[in-house]
Amino acid sequence: MIYENVLETLGDTPVVRLRRLLPRPQDRVYVKLEGVNPSGSIKDRAALHMVEQAEHEGRLRPGATLVESTSGNLGKSLALIGAVKGYRIILVVDPKTPQSVLSYATSLGAEIDMVTRPDADGSYQAARIRRVRRLVQDLPGAHTLDQYNNPDNPRAHRLHTSREITKDFDQLAALVATVSTGGHLSGLSAGLREQFPDLHVRAVDAVGSAAFGHRFEPYKMRGIGLSWRPGNLRPQAIDSLHRVADTEALSVCRVLAAEEGLLLGESGGAAVFAALAYAAAHPGAPVLAIAPDTGANYLYETYDDQWLREHGTPPEVLWRTSGDLLHHARTPLHAPSPLGGEDEGAAGTGQVAMGAQA
Ligand SMILES: Cc1ncc(COP(=O)(O)O)c(C=O)c1O
Repeated sequence: MIYENVLETLGDTPVVRLRRLLPRPQDRVYVKLEGVNPSGSIKDRAALHMVEQAEHEGRLRPGATLVESTSGNLGKSLALIGAVKGYRIILVVDPKTPQSVLSYATSLGAEIDMVTRPDADGSYQAARIRRVRRLVQDLPGAHTLDQYNNPDNPRAHRLHTSREITKDFDQLAALVATVSTGGHLSGLSAGLREQFPDLHVRAVDAVGSAAFGHRFEPYKMRGIGLSWRPGNLRPQAIDSLHRVADTEALSVCRVLAAEEGLLLGESGGAAVFAALAYAAAHPGAPVLAIAPDTGANYLYETYDDQWLREHGTPPEVLWRTSGDLLHHARTPLHAPSPLGGEDEGAAGTGQVAMGAQA
């Protein structure tokens, strides 16, 4: 296959069935590997669609400066797009951003603006947004895509990612996907429900995230979760919520790497854990988990015993075998719950609360 530029290689990502973990023919748990996108994550899709729409509507002119807050992957995507299309890219990141992500972005010519002081709740996300607003005000011709509220973020998945999935599946009982901006979950839910009206959509959040209204507390996983409710997270797109803990997701990453040869990022580990929990409660139902990025982003962190030890998660506390993993999936630390009561309600306002509880 010959492409005119690297951005054209985006999409058509493979789906892999978890065969070694679940060898019985009736077990059907699948993982869509978004890490094979050109910059290594699902964010390539949203970034390219947001940039192209901004160009189309005249909001983004040739040679413009793009400033964006990112936990890492959107930054990699923008660095790549900036290199191909000739934009100046400034990425506002924080100390949780993996070094491999920063090196990737700077190799492609992006500039890094590091926020070093967290908010009172320990989150850096609101501090990053404040910094973006400041830079956009101060730099002439600067523009921000605002991935948290930009409707072209979920639209990329409604229009494109969900079509890939409907080509691959005749039948799908459940979609299991992680949430940060809510972009891929909301967009996939809208697109897939057109084809599978009975689809169960399970959101996966990090224990510690406030995206669904819980109290924010720092956690280790990168990419998943948020310290406020984003505008692109649509409660009507979701049937149930599974809050996954760091140790659950990290254990899945380690076991999948060793037993399936799948090197997933931390949020992919969380999504697969939640998919296994769904499958345990619904035997035989075809379930698709979205793995947003590749574990190559975290080789010297999540996959490194020394790093885990130094960061408060001794590798000994992680499960080692598929048997352990399946046992814990039947008895997760936090039982999935229907999205109702305090979790439901209006979509996020998209406004970052600037107080302690962002
Ligand atoms: C690794 C990873 N997982 C999950 C997500 C959540 O995706 P979304 O912003 O579409 O909710 C992101 C978003 O940045 C991510 O980078």
